[in-house]
Amino acid sequence: MQLAGKKIILAVTGSIAAYKTPHLVRLLVKAGAEVRVLTTPAAEDFVSPLALATVSKHPVYSNVADGTAWNNHVEMGRWADAMLIAPCSANTLAKMANGLCDNLVCAVYLSAICPVFVAPAMDEDMWLHASTKNNLDKLRSYGNYIIPVAHGELASGLVGEGRMAEPEDLVSYLDSYFQKKNNSPLKGQKVLVTAGPTYERIDPVRFIGNFSSGKMGIALAEALAAQGAFVHLVLGPTHLQVLNKNITTIRVESAEDMYNASLRAFQDADIAILSAAVADYRPAETAPEKIKKRGDTLDISLVKNKDILATLGTLKKDGQLLVGFALETTDELHHATDKMNRKNADMIVLNSLKDAGAGFGHDTNKVTLIDKTGYKAELPLMTKQQVAEAIVNHISLLKNA
Ligand code: CTP
Repeated sequence: MQLAGKKIILAVTGSIAAYKTPHLVRLLVKAGAEVRVLTTPAAEDFVSPLALATVSKHPVYSNVADGTAWNNHVEMGRWADAMLIAPCSANTLAKMANGLCDNLVCAVYLSAICPVFVAPAMDEDMWLHASTKNNLDKLRSYGNYIIPVAHGELASGLVGEGRMAEPEDLVSYLDSYFQKKNNSPLKGQKVLVTAGPTYERIDPVRFIGNFSSGKMGIALAEALAAQGAFVHLVLGPTHLQVLNKNITTIRVESAEDMYNASLRAFQDADIAILSAAVADYRPAETAPEKIKKRGDTLDISLVKNKDILATLGTLKKDGQLLVGFALETTDELHHATDKMNRKNADMIVLNSLKDAGAGFGHDTNKVTLIDKTGYKAELPLMTKQQVAEAIVNHISLLKNA
């Protein structure tokens, strides 16, 4: 158990799943953790602070000030090795995403310098609401870990998505976080990740681009940072924000910018993962003024961009590991393996475009991992976070070999 001796803040918010938290505290204490419990005022409708104080063997705090005593939220946020918000209601989730701070749980969340784990719990319609999805995306971009909800019976009597993960699963999620963080071969490794599309300017107001959102590469950067790696993320134009303080983001626009930034970062990188959808060609010239509408057709002459992956493949030194992506539509495995060999990569992630839910813009993806030892694994359709974890786990195996 990696939780032995770990200091955990458990923040309980107003959801029916709060009735499971005394059991959760028991399990954490049994695993050797030191637990302090905070509640929002609404949580106390669902679970007794006395029960939580008894099992954690410490007072439970709910207010920033109790009478004349001030509960120092900054100190609490600095004391903990991890903060777990379970159950996290839709309301607290929204407050956290927007920096609201009207209770002790939110104040400690904003002060926390430790990793924060969020176990949402709500009814399915609330879970599926666009604003909940946006709030979860924001928390992920802050570097918080969202523990997947379970499917099952809900407080409304309906059956669906939105149940808080069971206490046993929450404990093993935290445990495996510390396990990876402490023992990962990626700890302290310098990793270059490229992500997103590139924009190739035609004139001051137009460009050639593609539909890549950068989600897969950002998920990779986050999974690497979670294992203690130092990540340089070279990111093409995307509306997505990366605010995780363990990731250094270098924003670029064109394939040429991405090439230059990647070559610089590769010099002292241990690993490079090139997931960006780089434009293969750019306009031979960028018009200095907006091109006026004249004839019935317009010809734009294109020239080839430099291939970043292939260039890094020629520069690769002993001990550097190079991972590329491939998107193929015919004879996928053959072409992807050929691409790996041609560009001197150690591993290729083959994207499937044939499966619904896979590829550009989706939150899910389906990939096949291929490496130069002949390893081949077709993964099922998963969230991009899960795919990123699987890719990172395989990279850490290769790095360890
Ligand atoms: N890539 C790159 N620089 C480029 C083009 C591609 O680094 N200028 C990288 C991508 O990030 C990806 C891999 O190369 O990791 C696969 O790119 P792809 O465009 O599929 O490869 P190509 O060799 O251009 O082959 P294709 O003929 O299939 O387009």
